[in-house]
Amino acid sequence: MSESSNSETAKITLGENTYEFPVLTGTEGEKAIDIGKLRSQTGHIVYDEGFANTASCKSEITFIDGDKGRLSYRGIPIEVMAENSTFIETAYLIIYGQLPTRKEMSQFSQKVLRNASLHEAMMHFFDGGFPFTAHPMAILSSLLNSVGCYYPEMVTNQREQDLEHFDDAAALLLSKVRTIAAMAYRMKNGLPLIYPKRDLGYSQNFLHMMFTEPYHEYYPHDDVTKALDLILLLHADHEQNCSTSTVRMVASSGANLFASVSAGVCALWGPLHGGANQRVIQMLMEIHKSGDDGTAYIEAAKQGKTRLMGFGHRVYKTYDPRAKILHGAAEKVLSVVKVKDPLLDIAQRLEEKARSDPYFIERNLYPNVDFYSGIILKAIGMPLDMFTVMFAIGRMPGWIAHWREVASNPKGRIIRPRQVYVGFRTRNYIKMRYRDGETSSDYEQDEHKSFGGGSSENAAAKA
Ligand SMILES: CC(C)(COP(=O)(O)OP(=O)(O)OC[C@H]1O[C@@H](n2cnc3c(N)ncnc32)[C@H](O)[C@@H]1OP(=O)(O)O)[C@@H](O)C(=O)NCCC(=O)NCCS
Repeated sequence: MSESSNSETAKITLGENTYEFPVLTGTEGEKAIDIGKLRSQTGHIVYDEGFANTASCKSEITFIDGDKGRLSYRGIPIEVMAENSTFIETAYLIIYGQLPTRKEMSQFSQKVLRNASLHEAMMHFFDGGFPFTAHPMAILSSLLNSVGCYYPEMVTNQREQDLEHFDDAAALLLSKVRTIAAMAYRMKNGLPLIYPKRDLGYSQNFLHMMFTEPYHEYYPHDDVTKALDLILLLHADHEQNCSTSTVRMVASSGANLFASVSAGVCALWGPLHGGANQRVIQMLMEIHKSGDDGTAYIEAAKQGKTRLMGFGHRVYKTYDPRAKILHGAAEKVLSVVKVKDPLLDIAQRLEEKARSDPYFIERNLYPNVDFYSGIILKAIGMPLDMFTVMFAIGRMPGWIAHWREVASNPKGRIIRPRQVYVGFRTRNYIKMRYRDGETSSDYEQDEHKSFGGGSSENAAAKA
């Protein structure tokens, strides 16, 4: 289950010299040139804007074949997980590397359930600790880090100690991320805070906490619960995306699990990553309102005036397998909640148009996971600003598993990329009184004093 290093090598020629570097082969046949000794041997570094060609680590958690549209968690294809599993069982698989036995599953679920409530002192955060206008992602990120403060034994920033408490910390985060999310929604909407229930499953409990009114207990339809659970399951991990790489980077400094996942939430928030699902619905509503059938929007995207949100992916150069599963699920949920959403028709029309348009075909732009997940979330009553929060709840198992992979690697090093510096060469510090147009001869004199006669290097730097 590890990479193999065979006799294959890659040669790099720089001037007169040729250097050889080992080639690693992943378990799915992916090849990587190991340039770990490049700088020490050649004095050169590599430049790869956006890391599109760079493996930042070895990982055993998730495999993606972007050309074939394949995704698997710990070796099990996503389609198989979607068909047979639940979010909590998938979380176990991702975190611990294998499917749980009946006993392991029951213990894990109980642990998650027992950890659902927040420390009472944390409730004050929802009572004036944030303005009503606060985005739930800001609340989520702050409170995930704050939760750790109540469990000092889990956040020591001493690897061995933090790992000793890993099982508890993992269950606690999986559980409390959902409670914090629901409470953030209730606070923002002026609803009384309610506690999780012991007898409800993970997704059902979340929906109950979200939508229960003081005069009406909400219990979702089974198909609605299943649809949310499926969305969470499909988001559970996606190898080295922006937020997961952020979690790994923070973890690599020795920071604890809570701090690392809190940083992951911030990275996820942006519209090019987790924020895209919210933008998809905004885009569909805009198209609907303008009376466009999608043609004008597609033309604007082709001219670079906007982007077709929910389309394109750094890794998938074909249909994102998660989007395929969610397309079917979206139709089912709409029929269950008996909603005829014109946005689904627009989304389907956009997809048809884009998939027959050379601009999108040539650039391999296909629907990604965000394209249909938003329609489902909207149908089950989720407000727009909670969409990215749903992504964060779903991604929690992945972040936890990646933190553990980093923290338990005895050979792990702090992640610290290099750069190609393209800024100014050495410049002089010009005193304030000369910056606003006093005479240059005064400046020259002053500089002469402060730089001991003004070397040719200073003169060159000034030029
Ligand atoms: C996901 C995404 C950030 C990947 O970005 P990337 O790998 O850096 O790809 P690039 O931005 O280099 O795009 C490559 C080309 O496709 C075009 N392109 C990419 N996504 C596009 C989109 N959604 N709509 C229109 N054009 C798009 C780019 O303009 C570029 O065209 P060019 O070669 O003529 O300059 C990008 O596809 C995107 O912004 N998609 C919309 C946001 C989204 O859905 N994000 C969720 C991802 S799960």
